Amino acid sequence: MKICIYEARADELKDFENIGKALGLELKLHKEIPSLETAGLAAGCDGAAMLGQGKIDSPLLDAWKAMGLKAIATRTVGYDHMDIQHAKDIGLMVCNSDYPPTGVAEYTVMMMLLVLRNYKPALWRGQVNDFSLAGLQGREINNLTIGVIGTGRIGFSVIKALSGFGGKLLAYDPHPNDKVRQYAEYVEFDELIARSDVITLHLHLTPQTRHMINRDVIAKMKDGIVLINCSRGELMDMDALIEGIESKKIGGLGLDTVEGETGIIHADHRTDILKNKDYAYLKQFPNVVMTPHMAFYTDVAVTGMVQSSLEGIKSMIETGNFRTRLV
Ligand code: COI
Repeated sequence: MKICIYEARADELKDFENIGKALGLELKLHKEIPSLETAGLAAGCDGAAMLGQGKIDSPLLDAWKAMGLKAIATRTVGYDHMDIQHAKDIGLMVCNSDYPPTGVAEYTVMMMLLVLRNYKPALWRGQVNDFSLAGLQGREINNLTIGVIGTGRIGFSVIKALSGFGGKLLAYDPHPNDKVRQYAEYVEFDELIARSDVITLHLHLTPQTRHMINRDVIAKMKDGIVLINCSRGELMDMDALIEGIESKKIGGLGLDTVEGETGIIHADHRTDILKNKDYAYLKQFPNVVMTPHMAFYTDVAVTGMVQSSLEGIKSMIETGNFRTRLV
């Protein structure tokens, strides 16, 4: 079985070699992002695997289908970059990845601590031997109410990690998970928004969840609210975040994912002018920690991404099934 790998990074190569060999697959590795222009790289392949930088839209899916591809896998958990309905309509099987959620969960806790303990301005000061304390006083998770929106695998893992800190944990999810109840209290969305000191999002991006954190919702939050987003940037309305930071309604932001980050993240732009003015503006604030969509990026997760994508394509083609098959 021959599989075309898009967006192959140097750090994935060993896993592709080892896991591809163990599964008896022939892999064609490419750095290119999938698009209509690069669709031809998959000619002669049975399947393709990609990350999240390309739009897997209907023209691209049609092109792959016409070339004879049977299954595709995104090496990501999120699949908002894929038109899975169209894939279903044309009979192309799709799965996503289910690498362990602990890496993103630990990163989420780190983002909370970085913001709550004013680590960004402390780091800036340290670079110029300014070791003063004024303005750096922080808050303890132990004394705060943390609201977790979305209690799937990652949300649950965040709740479990936070449970050791001793703060009050609130959770919201339209589909509650009984395992969560031993650590957190499920409440309605509006109650979580009103009672939390820190809110973190762990949701898929869909038309329903896009801009779920907007001007109206932020207005109902506590003054000085800290917002954390290690899921998808578009869950939060960028204009509303900027307004909230400018007015100080928002006390701090920990954003690993930012609306409009595509084309910026995972690349060196040292000599470029950032075209996304909002991104460039927001990242200057001392109480805004922005990182380039790297919460996922651990040794275990990268291996899991490679493993589940290759296993998924092989299994879907051979049996029609895989544990994370989407359509
Ligand atoms: C995901 O797995 O959904 C991620 O956010 C990882 C990233 C490489 C897109």
